[in-house]
Amino acid sequence: MKSKSHPWERTPQDFFTDAETIRRSAASIFGGEPDGYAIIPSVSYGLSTAARAVEPMLGKDDSILILEEGFPSNVLPWMRVAKERGAKLITIPVPGDGNWTNAPSAAYRFFPGFCNIVQQGPSLV
Ligand SMILES: Cc1ncc(COP(=O)(O)O)c(C=O)c1O
Repeated sequence: MKSKSHPWERTPQDFFTDAETIRRSAASIFGGEPDGYAIIPSVSYGLSTAARAVEPMLGKDDSILILEEGFPSNVLPWMRVAKERGAKLITIPVPGDGNWTNAPSAAYRFFPGFCNIVQQGPSLV
């Protein structure tokens, strides 16, 4: 925390040292190996990287679900992937009550039999 409030005191080496500590902590808290966790410089960069990683597996028979009014960094990469891979881009509308808590199951309700994986609860992206 202290170093975050004094960013001018941080050195390039601090980034790598902290990253390894965080990766080890994440593995011990959430499971898996430290190598299974990536430290990203921004959410936008991480989402773009994730889209690039997933896109070779997508084709015209696939659909990508995004949330209406989503942050552009989680919309634009998927628009590109859908266009380039011929996949269908489906936007889940804002729930009537404005509560996104159940959005994954809402997606399932909109497209029964369509979702292979329905994730509930907090997620780390
Ligand atoms: C989906 C999404 N993209 C982007 C951002 C902005 O963060 P960053 O500047 O790290 O890309 C946020 C911030 O919460 C976010 O939730």
